[in-house]
Amino acid sequence: MASILLRGMILPMTGSGDFYPQGEIAIKGDSIFHVGPIGTTPESFISDQVLDLPNDVFMPGLVNTHTHAAMTILRGYADDLPLMRWLNEKIWPFEEKLSDEDIYWGTSLALCEMIMSGTTAMLDMYASMEQVAEAVIQAGTRAVLSRGLIGNGPNGQRALAENIELIKKYHGAGDGRVQVMFGPHAPYTCSGEFLREVSAEADKYGVGIHIHVAETKDEIDIIKEQYGKTPVQWLNELGLFKEQVVAAHCVHLTDEDMTILADKRVSVAHNPESNMKLNSGTARIPEMLDRGITVGLGTDGASSNNNLDLFGEMRTAAFQQKLVVNSTALPAYQVLEMATVNGAKALGLSTGVLAPGYKADIISVNFDQPHFYPRFSIPAHLVYSANGGDVRTTIVNGKILMQDRKLVTLDKDKICSEVETRAKKIAAQFE
Ligand code: NI
Repeated sequence: MASILLRGMILPMTGSGDFYPQGEIAIKGDSIFHVGPIGTTPESFISDQVLDLPNDVFMPGLVNTHTHAAMTILRGYADDLPLMRWLNEKIWPFEEKLSDEDIYWGTSLALCEMIMSGTTAMLDMYASMEQVAEAVIQAGTRAVLSRGLIGNGPNGQRALAENIELIKKYHGAGDGRVQVMFGPHAPYTCSGEFLREVSAEADKYGVGIHIHVAETKDEIDIIKEQYGKTPVQWLNELGLFKEQVVAAHCVHLTDEDMTILADKRVSVAHNPESNMKLNSGTARIPEMLDRGITVGLGTDGASSNNNLDLFGEMRTAAFQQKLVVNSTALPAYQVLEMATVNGAKALGLSTGVLAPGYKADIISVNFDQPHFYPRFSIPAHLVYSANGGDVRTTIVNGKILMQDRKLVTLDKDKICSEVETRAKKIAAQFE
């Protein structure tokens, strides 16, 4: 069992004000053994490796609570179009051409980007999820995977069978780093009957549900017309919220919707950049947090963002609320909680804080850079000044995946060139 000692500044995310200007973290195997000021690690701890980084801030790895990782292969392929034209003429036809291998390489590119920008765990929804699982196992990150289910007709049943197969093969794989949920796409793409079936399966297998909810105004109109209710009311009536649910977006909620989500302990994945880029709207995040809803941060897929940098997402999340609510909305520490503690809680992970007993998913941010001086507030710098490129070290499950910005588990150059070739080959079919 390998053990690592980390020394530097530490923001453990155990409560605002908790900070060690000169601290140390002892990692034993896959877990955190000790966190405290320098010199406080029990003498019985013997380290195989020491990372002495006095100008770095160590913090929990970031958790991306909603993405479609393989969509990096579509990054920049189509932008600046009206939503339905963008989907119908560009995104969906391209996605139809994707092979299992394309999805493997697209996901690997996403994982490179995530490791290099401090994201240690993701909640993913896509197709060919066995390829995604293999890419995650190879990369060494943590992931909760869901097969996207469009639930009307035989395709829905086939996808549901694949999701169940994914659970049997990969739930708990990669030393427990890989978990599985069900991924019914949205209330407007799945019938009530199908959603009830998914709910029963989730119950049977003891896994959660990952679903898009109330993303656009159009969705609200469609569901109201079909069922006479809001999407949240409809899903609640179906009994879906008896399960552990992560609801992505939740941009258009009524007060009653928020009460339901709070009562049923449904977690929300907030994706501000995707919501802005697709003109979906602004989610009422401060009100959700006030009601005790667990809200994490997500990037959504790379074609509606277009990067997977959660540092950028934190900054946007804060600025968006300051613009529409007021300048005191979503203070820096609360945004950091969304990207760490809350994200881990939403996904049911034992990560998101630096404390003994938690899994060792840890990053370090290089603070010896002009944009981090003077050091008045570490949380403010992390949210308002930092970007993913400032991450120096990424550790998942006690294993170093990036050191001094060099990837350990993945061949970045090979992955970039594979995706470049594959993406251009698909695009050429539409010229
Ligand atoms: Ni999405």
